[in-house]
Amino acid sequence: MVDKEQIAEIKNSVNIVEIIGEVVSLSKAGRNYLGLCPFHGEKTPSFNVVEDKQFYHCFGCGRSGDVFKFIEEYRGVTFMDAVQIVSEKAGIAIQNQARPHQPTLVNPNQELYDIHQEASKFYQAILMTTKMGEEARNYLHERGLTDEVIRHFQLGLAPAEGNYLYRNLSEKFSEKVITDSGLFTISDAGTVFDAFQDRIMFPLTDDTGRVIAFSGRLWKEAMDGSHQAKYKNSRSTRLFNKSFELYHLDQAKTSAKKLREMYVMEGFMDVIAAYRAGIENAVASMGTALTPEHVHHLSHFTKKVILTYDGDKAGLEATVKALDVLQDLDLEIVRIPDQMDPDEYLKKTSPEELASLLKDSRISKVEFLMHYWKPSYIENLQAQIEFVEKLAPIIAQTQSITAQNAYIYKLADLLPDFDYVQVEQIVNNSRLQQREATQKSGASKRSNFSVDLLPNRGMSRLVKAENHLLNRMKDFPMILNDYRLRSDFSFDTPELQVLYKLLCQNGEVTSQDLSEQPEGVQHAWYRMLEEDLPEEISDGELEEVEETRQRELLRKENQQIGNKVKEASSTGDAETALLELERLIAQKRRME
Ligand code: CTP
Ligand code: MN
Repeated sequence: MVDKEQIAEIKNSVNIVEIIGEVVSLSKAGRNYLGLCPFHGEKTPSFNVVEDKQFYHCFGCGRSGDVFKFIEEYRGVTFMDAVQIVSEKAGIAIQNQARPHQPTLVNPNQELYDIHQEASKFYQAILMTTKMGEEARNYLHERGLTDEVIRHFQLGLAPAEGNYLYRNLSEKFSEKVITDSGLFTISDAGTVFDAFQDRIMFPLTDDTGRVIAFSGRLWKEAMDGSHQAKYKNSRSTRLFNKSFELYHLDQAKTSAKKLREMYVMEGFMDVIAAYRAGIENAVASMGTALTPEHVHHLSHFTKKVILTYDGDKAGLEATVKALDVLQDLDLEIVRIPDQMDPDEYLKKTSPEELASLLKDSRISKVEFLMHYWKPSYIENLQAQIEFVEKLAPIIAQTQSITAQNAYIYKLADLLPDFDYVQVEQIVNNSRLQQREATQKSGASKRSNFSVDLLPNRGMSRLVKAENHLLNRMKDFPMILNDYRLRSDFSFDTPELQVLYKLLCQNGEVTSQDLSEQPEGVQHAWYRMLEEDLPEEISDGELEEVEETRQRELLRKENQQIGNKVKEASSTGDAETALLELERLIAQKRRME
């Protein structure tokens, strides 16, 4: 178990800017860091990391929290898992192992990792040592995989039995681990079945090489003629998030670091084909959905991506979509001819030819789109105009002038009714427009920031005063105590009242306490932290805050009475209207 001192120690020994910086590219903006929010799609950055207070806040979607909360949300894990992940980054778990008298921090997911490791060993043993495995291995051999390749990718076989894996692992693991692993399905009657049956098994690892899930491929025609999906993946678990993980990243990262580039392919067999062609820096997005999470994850290991999706219609469409997500990385594209995927290309040609296709036939984003968007009736003037107007902005974004010229030439060549000068002019116009747009958005961005970065924008004076008060209570136990003794005191803002109660109970609000509260309360806490107060309390500071608070409370009450008066008189309820009016006048007197 991890206690709250340990959690605080873990939090203190990391810097939130570095942890978030691993997955979000941040740039310094004033005292804070700014980046694109990983939690909602945005093109201009509003994700703010406050270093001196160690929390983040997105002005776009309103999410905020400390380092644990970030990991919770980003990786989709529980609070305790987030603590574990951060502790590993802080190296605290290792430190504890070295000092055995200290309580060791046990990875709460350790058993989940263990069961995957065990399952992977089982599946491999079945493939490599059994009669049934021999048949499956023949299938793989026929597809061109040698035993060396099979071993490198740790392929396995799930037997065609209802609960083979369960029978072998149920004694060693708790029911909870069995249920949470995603390796089994449990019937309503409580019978446990293996999730994977009669499939070739691809273990999926995290970027450190731990097995966290599986994908299983059918390898025989189903006897009963049932149509099952060719590939079946583990469901999402605490360990596995398909939008974040990339197949083979643990192995590919070393080679990618050396070569400073990484191939991104669609499938397992494509990555294996690349390996057979001597190319180890290839990962698969496991289908055509390349997410921003994938790209952030990837950007930790490479700055340049060679996008190598299938050459079929789906692959080309997916490539176009991926161009947007990959905007911040250097990018080249390989088109596989004749609608093939890399694996099919290798099969049809040779490993050497696949290698040379991957290395020598890369094109740029502009070239890809020039081909992809090219109208089928190029003689049609309208189609030419649309085409050139779509492509011009992309050519204008190209950094190199030489490349720009070449593209303009190529495009003019394609278009029967445009010459070089005309295309050049359209590109130049496009560049001017973009410059104006960025200047404008730059200006508005700046003004947005100064508003955004103003603490507590759009907050009422009442909430601001109450934030101020709670902030002081948090740092000065004496003040907290004073208020605690005033039995008639409570915060008007409900979220702040909840936080105040927590403070009174425990003398502090820990990350864990906070993680158990509703979103609104969590946000209120961070908004309160944003209040920039001097370290020392000045003379009369609290009295002033109290005064503001009281005045604002009265004002709020007045407003409510005023509303009632209006309501009552509009419904013709003269008596109530009069009564409320009297109250209002009495209030106003008190305020003077
Ligand atoms: N995929 C998946 N789930 C599916 C189908 C596909 O996760 N139901 C992923 C797998 O990672 C697969 C990739 O998408 O490798 C590409 O799918 P597909 O092109 O259909 O398979 P291939 O890679 O061509 O596989 P194979 O050569 O074994 O047919
Ligand atoms: Mn494919």
